[in-house]
Amino acid sequence: MGIATSQLVKRKRQGHPLVMLTAWDYPFAQLLDKAGVDLILVGDSLAMVALGHPTTLPVTLDQMIHHTQAVCRGVKEALVVCDLPFMSYQEGPIQALRSAGRVLKETQAGAVKLEGGYPEMIEIVHRLSLSGIPVVGHVGVTPQSVHRQGYRRQGKAQVEGDRILHEAIALSEAGAFTIILENITHDLAQKITKTLPIPTIGIGAGPHCDGQVLVTSDVLGLSSWQPPFAKVYANLHETITDAVKTFSQEVRDRQFP
Ligand code: KIV
Repeated sequence: MGIATSQLVKRKRQGHPLVMLTAWDYPFAQLLDKAGVDLILVGDSLAMVALGHPTTLPVTLDQMIHHTQAVCRGVKEALVVCDLPFMSYQEGPIQALRSAGRVLKETQAGAVKLEGGYPEMIEIVHRLSLSGIPVVGHVGVTPQSVHRQGYRRQGKAQVEGDRILHEAIALSEAGAFTIILENITHDLAQKITKTLPIPTIGIGAGPHCDGQVLVTSDVLGLSSWQPPFAKVYANLHETITDAVKTFSQEVRDRQFP
C-alpha cells in the first residue's frame, strides 16, 4: 500500500518536495489521503493532540497500533508511517524488532519511525532494516527526550551541529529510507539534505529540506498552542465552536429539528 520507499529517493533526485502530515484517526486520514499528501505519520504527538497528555511519553505501543489501524482504514494512496513510542525500542534491537514487527503485522503501515542517533539507534535501525522493516529516522529535537533536551532548537553550536550531521549520515548508512529533521538550524538542515542520498523531511528546519511535515492539528487550528515554526492554514477551532454553539442554540430555541 502507498508510495514505495524507493520512490522517495527518486523524488529527492527529481527535486519534487515530499508532503507529510500527521493523523490519528480514520476521518482525518481519509481527508489527508484524498487531498494527496505523500506520507501520513501516525506520530506519537497524538499523545498530546488526541489524548490530552502534556508530552509524548505516556502513549503506549498498543495505543499507537490502535490509532494506526484506524488511520490505515482511511488511506488508499499515502505511505503510512507509525511512530514507535517511548520505551518500545530504547532497550535494544530485540525490543525494537518485537515492537516494529507488531506494527507491521497488526496494521497496514508501511514503515516505522524512531527518534535519536548515536550510538544505540544506529544499531537498532540496522537490525530493523536487515529484517525488512522500513525505518524513518528522526534527529534534532527529539520530543521523547524532552526531559533531557527540552524543545530548544538544536545544532546552533558547531559541535552539536556536527554530531547531528554525523548521526543523520550514520542513520542513512544503517538503512533509514528518510530522516525527519526537527527544529534545527536551516544551514544545518541544508547541509544534511545535500549530504544524504535519502530524503530529509523538515519540521521547523527551514526551506532546504526535501519535504515538510507538520502536526495536522496545528495546520488546521485545532491545537491550543502551536510551535513558532508551524503555520496555521485554517481555524477549525472557531468553525467547530461556532457550529456547536449554533446547534445548541437551535435545540434550546426549539428551532431544530
Ligand atoms: O509525533 C510527531 O508528530 C512527529 C512529528 C513532529 C515529526 O514526530
